[in-house]
Amino acid sequence: MYAVQMRGIIKRFGPLVANDQIDFNLEQGEIHALLGENGAGKTTLMRILYGLYHADEGEVVVNDQTAHVASPKDAIRLGIGMVTQHFALVPTLSVAENIVLGYTDGFQVNPRIAQQRVAEACTRFGIEVDPAALVRHLSVGERQRVEILKALYRDARILILDEPTAVLVPQEVDMLFGTLERLRRGGLSVIFISHKLYEVMALCARITVLRDGRVVGTVDKAATSQAELARMMVGRETFGVTRQEDQSQGPTLLHIDNLSALDERGLPALRNVSLVVREGEILGVAGVSGNGQTELSHVLAGTLKPTEGRVMMGDHDLTFADPANVSSAGVGRIPEDRHEGVIGELSVADNLALEHLNQFITAGMLDHRRIRKHAEKLIAEYQIKASPADRMRTLSGGNMQKVILARALSRNPQLVVASQPTRGLDVGATEYVRTKLLEQRNRGAAVLLLSEDLDEILALSDRIAVIYEGRIVGLLSAEEAEEEKLGLLMSGAREEANAES
Ligand SMILES: Nc1ncnc2c1ncn2[C@@H]1O[C@H](COP(=O)(O)OP(=O)(O)OP(=O)(O)O)[C@@H](O)[C@H]1O
Ligand SMILES: [Mg+2]
Repeated sequence: MYAVQMRGIIKRFGPLVANDQIDFNLEQGEIHALLGENGAGKTTLMRILYGLYHADEGEVVVNDQTAHVASPKDAIRLGIGMVTQHFALVPTLSVAENIVLGYTDGFQVNPRIAQQRVAEACTRFGIEVDPAALVRHLSVGERQRVEILKALYRDARILILDEPTAVLVPQEVDMLFGTLERLRRGGLSVIFISHKLYEVMALCARITVLRDGRVVGTVDKAATSQAELARMMVGRETFGVTRQEDQSQGPTLLHIDNLSALDERGLPALRNVSLVVREGEILGVAGVSGNGQTELSHVLAGTLKPTEGRVMMGDHDLTFADPANVSSAGVGRIPEDRHEGVIGELSVADNLALEHLNQFITAGMLDHRRIRKHAEKLIAEYQIKASPADRMRTLSGGNMQKVILARALSRNPQLVVASQPTRGLDVGATEYVRTKLLEQRNRGAAVLLLSEDLDEILALSDRIAVIYEGRIVGLLSAEEAEEEKLGLLMSGAREEANAES
């Protein structure tokens, strides 16, 4: 019995074929993973199923009937729900209002009745959220639960989750998986997208792998392995990265002393943060999104002025430096939002030269030939799939990140500040970026790694600091650090324990 059958789906964007003759079957009551590299076509296929895109060719069958899904409204009517990474909730409204909203078709929402209905739904589906809470007060994990509840409230029998775990801490992932398994036993069919192979193996019964818009194959969990899945995705072996232990570390390079700063709303974001990073080490800063990481990276980039404290790199006082000072002092930056780090309308070559244009001036003029040569060299060295003249905005996420990496690392910076360097990247691109960061450490650079991905922190860091509500709440060596311990610190457990005693 199939909940969904997609047959011969073709979707073109101009000359690009994002989905090329895709056949995909979702069984009733199964959790089915969709795997594939960045740009393989996963989101496109799901947007077609949810009515956000229209296939150029092919057929969608829902519950054994040909379905015409022209809009999400049609999808919802067919019992299909989709939760994306960018939640579509109204922050100033309550959980109950968000869930009932739209469902009542313009009918006035009675807050008391809405809350009561939503509380019933929470109990029925076993999902824990406070119906009366304002969405803007909720954590990312809680918001996701609201989105799932919203879909179930609208009688979704088929649930699409596009990279739901990318924003969660380990405990929240466990909770999500528990919920999904329970709902599955109740008859829900789930399509689950993730770049994390062990998650797919833990949760899903069957796995469909896409590559370059085509189906490579559908396999049973019981008959496959993470290694095989990686091979199907990228067409070669992947090994992950390994950090050499017993690296001899140099002197302290970066001193962050008692640093405080405000966020964009003027509220305290960093509270008396002190950290040091030595040459030849990676210091990982672990934390759930929104606990001060962004502000810390902005202070270090020279784009946010602290209210208190000091930042020294060797003899350079960087406390109030501007971005140009920071760059010329020898700091290589990989910004959190890669679109912020590049100019989409400029070429790849211009973007690669952007931070040190003065070096490309010949006889008072920008030397475009040298800018192109420079780009050709870095494109080859960093295996970027692009040519120097391509507009930056046309590159895939992984290739855009490689451009930023090439620009930051090619000048052998003394200090590397990397924020979420592999967010949303596929297995191959992730492995590549991590290898490059380890190379920097091994040649003696000090690396400050800010990441919400605990696996990344654990794979790369020599020491790990945990940030929670703008404070450093723990500092652990690589040997001491365990996932569970870090997860507890990241969710503020230690803080609460201290407050009680
Ligand atoms: N609206 C659009 N216009 C033009 N091209 C698009 C559009 N949406 C997707 N694409 C292209 O289609 C291809 C498939 O993209 P899609 O988002 O489906 O990949 P994905 O497998 O979800 O990747 P990721 O793992 O990075 O999320 C990519 O090359 C992408 O650039
Ligand atoms: Mg996607």
